[in-house]
Amino acid sequence: MSKEDLLVLKKEVETCTRCDLHKTRTNVVFGEGSANARIMLCGEAPGYWEDQKGRPFVGNAGKFLDELLSIAGLKREEVFIANILKCRPPGNREPRPEEIELCTSFLNKQIKIIKPRIICTLGNYATSYILEKYGFKSDSMGKIHGKVFRVSNLSTQLKIIPMYHPATALYKPYMKEVIKRDWKLIKEELK
Ligand code: URA
Repeated sequence: MSKEDLLVLKKEVETCTRCDLHKTRTNVVFGEGSANARIMLCGEAPGYWEDQKGRPFVGNAGKFLDELLSIAGLKREEVFIANILKCRPPGNREPRPEEIELCTSFLNKQIKIIKPRIICTLGNYATSYILEKYGFKSDSMGKIHGKVFRVSNLSTQLKIIPMYHPATALYKPYMKEVIKRDWKLIKEELK
């Protein structure tokens, strides 16, 4: 599949009215980056600034994510950054099961088109969704952050690496170094 497939999907997502989040969104946040990315990052859902700008991770958590990407030797343009939900939950509340159910077919299509070799899941929602999608049992972030889950079958060669959500460092500053250490690991996995 190609860049064009991703653009067609983007158009479809931008007019989505499957769940009530379309009533309160300012912009859909489809995600952005390279259609040929070897690495895909998956966060939870757009926050205030993402909803305003229609781009993923452009608020405070995004600033820290940029720092983490540079630790891994990566540029935004060479990865693809997506979220579990494409529209902001009001007041940044947590995603609801029915919203995840309705929205993740778009994420699944993004994965099919981009075919990343590595998916870094940012936070609990992305981690449990992606691990379970590929047949793994999820666990607490404290136990599985920075671990590599390998999917190897006829159709898929993929590593899934659960990561703390970058926003964790904003309300628990002592976690900053733990998170940075995990991103150094990604650099090793990329070699
Ligand atoms: N948090 C997320 O999970 N995703 C974003 O795009 C921004 C903040």
